[in-house]
Amino acid sequence: MRKLWSGRIQGDQDALFLRLNNSLPIDCRLWREDIQASIAHAGMLGACGIIPSADATIIVEGLEAIRVDLESGDASLPKDAEDIHTAIEVMLGERVGAAAGRLHTARSRNDQVATDTRLFTRSAIDSTRAEIRALQLALLDIAAEHADTLLPGLTHLQHAQPCSLGHHMLAWFQMLTRDDDRLICARKRANVCPLGAAALAGTSFPIDRFRTATELEFDGPMANSIDAVSDRDYILDYLSAAATLMAHLSRMGEELVLWSSPEYGFVTLGDAVTTGSSIMPQKRNPDAAELVRGKSGRVFGDLMAMLTVVKGLPLAYNKDLQEDKELLFDAVDTLSLALPSVRIAVQSATFHPARMAAAMKGDASTATDLADALTRRGMPFREAHRLTGAAVSASEHAGLALENLTAAELRSLLPEGTQGVESLVAVLNASGSAASRTSYGGTSPEEVRKQLKVARADLERRG
Ligand code: ARG
Repeated sequence: MRKLWSGRIQGDQDALFLRLNNSLPIDCRLWREDIQASIAHAGMLGACGIIPSADATIIVEGLEAIRVDLESGDASLPKDAEDIHTAIEVMLGERVGAAAGRLHTARSRNDQVATDTRLFTRSAIDSTRAEIRALQLALLDIAAEHADTLLPGLTHLQHAQPCSLGHHMLAWFQMLTRDDDRLICARKRANVCPLGAAALAGTSFPIDRFRTATELEFDGPMANSIDAVSDRDYILDYLSAAATLMAHLSRMGEELVLWSSPEYGFVTLGDAVTTGSSIMPQKRNPDAAELVRGKSGRVFGDLMAMLTVVKGLPLAYNKDLQEDKELLFDAVDTLSLALPSVRIAVQSATFHPARMAAAMKGDASTATDLADALTRRGMPFREAHRLTGAAVSASEHAGLALENLTAAELRSLLPEGTQGVESLVAVLNASGSAASRTSYGGTSPEEVRKQLKVARADLERRG
């Protein structure tokens, strides 16, 4: 095993401990970030006169060449290195010789790993955000197409009030907008540079932390060197935003599973995201939606595990923190599968407006409209609610659908002498009900089209 500390500890490590300790199988993923941060560090060491500038040039060119070779596959990481930082330093030594030994001046793997992981998290956030945006665009397309399509809006999974399918898609859109907001905040907090904190106490070399921070496109150096090497809030922030995002995707998945079941029949998911059964030839299973729902637990687990890693840690760096990357990578990988899967699921979906309309037949979901109509005539809403409830119950007993009641039938269910029953009957159909809900953010197709415009503008503003 290649390590960077064999001066002090010369005995052999136990094979089992080596497996426990060796992080290369996980952190090998950070090789680009490790090289990038090392190039910035070496350039700064040269510019500040801490190492000879000729050596700085040799180091930077060596790292750039290693980057090219790793990218093309002409070189590979030494498998026996303890971690990615060791691996790159060993490769550099093999390539440029003695100058490589100057790279680690005024830094430690503690600030190095934190810098690498922040760089990784920052770009992971950017890709997660791009996937969110793609899904949001797909939802806007469906919302535009189906602003006028009505389906039963549910509370307690019971038919509540007719809603626009476009409105429903915009609800999903809003959930994702909040996820994006959380990621924007997470990015801001991730985007500060720990490099130069060294082991924990800073360094006596005249380094320029602002220079490395700027070169790595961070907003600035972290203010406190102890905090810089021990802080993993940026991973918690990402995982927490990722967990909420997965909870949202899981809820969408659940609705797609329900809607694609024969009992609902609101949607047929495309072949691209469904599977058949090995025994039942008729099956079209919504596996993508189910897997997204199922995988949400992994990401919740990643967050919980990371919270557990940091919860008892004294300042500053502790090896427990090495666990952070596996959790972070798992969440990033899960999201990079789940987000496009939901996007493809909705893009390949065929919605069935007729089935949605049929589902609302006889469901009394316009009862609120009747109560509202009575209220508009001056009756207190509580009284109107009671009367309407009684009318619904009576129509049920009479085997009549609320929305199909004739004026005479409705009159018989309302108190003696109720006037203008014809106009009350008119509020009982689903499309009239939906169209009337023009309040800001409401379900009327007209309002949905307004919301759609605002949503599009918001997405464009986010760029
Ligand atoms: N592999 C380590 C990690 O991921 C790198 C930092 C090691 N630092 C140390 N002092 N052993 O946290």
